Amino acid sequence: MCIIVARRHKVAHDESMIYQKIGFIGTGHMGQAMIQALAESGKVPVSKLYASNRSPGKLKRVQEQFGINVVANNEELIDICDIVIIAVKPQDLTAVIEPVASSFLPGQIVISLAAGYSLRSLQKLLPTVKGLVRVMPNTPATIRRAVLGYCMGPGADIYAPVIEELFSPLGLVVPAPEGELFEALTVSCGSGPGFIFEVMQYWQEWVEEHGFEPDVARKMVVQTFLGAAELAAKSVDMPLHDLQDRVVSKKGVTAAGLQSMRELEIERALRYSFEKAVLRDQELARGTAKD
Ligand SMILES: NC(=O)c1ccc[n+]([C@@H]2O[C@H](COP(=O)([O-])OP(=O)(O)OC[C@H]3O[C@@H](n4cnc5c(N)ncnc54)[C@H](OP(=O)(O)O)[C@@H]3O)[C@@H](O)[C@H]2O)c1
Repeated sequence: MCIIVARRHKVAHDESMIYQKIGFIGTGHMGQAMIQALAESGKVPVSKLYASNRSPGKLKRVQEQFGINVVANNEELIDICDIVIIAVKPQDLTAVIEPVASSFLPGQIVISLAAGYSLRSLQKLLPTVKGLVRVMPNTPATIRRAVLGYCMGPGADIYAPVIEELFSPLGLVVPAPEGELFEALTVSCGSGPGFIFEVMQYWQEWVEEHGFEPDVARKMVVQTFLGAAELAAKSVDMPLHDLQDRVVSKKGVTAAGLQSMRELEIERALRYSFEKAVLRDQELARGTAKD
């Protein structure tokens, strides 16, 4: 029995995704976003996707909506799956994994999505697991437009192709070693949509204050962000300031607005906010290191 289980949980680094069972512990915002994207991408058969969750309601929803397998508890999921993705809040991760730590096998790949939960802390929690990986996704994963950063524990580098293959249907996959690079990716891309939605809300409110109906104002704002982002995406050889120059005429309307943005030091305010977010990420990391 033991031998069969151990063989089943050995993920070969060149083995295709379609042969591996992928399990999510936690079907909250991010767990659901990733399950939806993987299910809809068609790259992983839904019969190979599994999930467990503390409360049954969300679990039932993902089962009904995406046709994946659900299991009664985390231990069962760990027994079944070759790749286990931990999608619980960083503050809950230790309490969720500690009681089931002995169920993991060395050949499994264990992926944590938790912000501020270091590879060192993961290693302490799961000392026998060789394939420890941190992945930092963002919510556009739902529509397969995510940025996903990843870094690997010692000796786990051989699994990089598996990680790239698994997550590339969800968006742009970026290797980022733990430390300053991973922190910068966490804040700019993991938290990024949260900051962008903040700005979009100000934008929409201003448009509404000038007389547009909320639904029209929302469409106008979304289309402006989408149009600018898609134009930038399609103009790969053009620096962003060149694209900006095409909007600005000397002493014109845009120029007046930009001058004010610069006088008000919007850049400084954004940088300050990003640095605050990095400090919180570091604070969370210190809290989970337990030493
Ligand atoms: N949301 C984002 O934009 C984002 C971006 C980057 C990274 N992340 C990372 O993704 C992770 C999940 O974030 P989230 O926003 O999805 O949080 P969330 O919406 O609160 O989801 C967490 C899920 O974990 C479940 N859970 C808690 N304890 C559990 C247990 N013992 N066994 C099984 N499931 C359990 C919760 O179940 P209940 O139904 O009982 O609440 C909930 O469904 C975090 O570590 C976060 O840092 C999130």
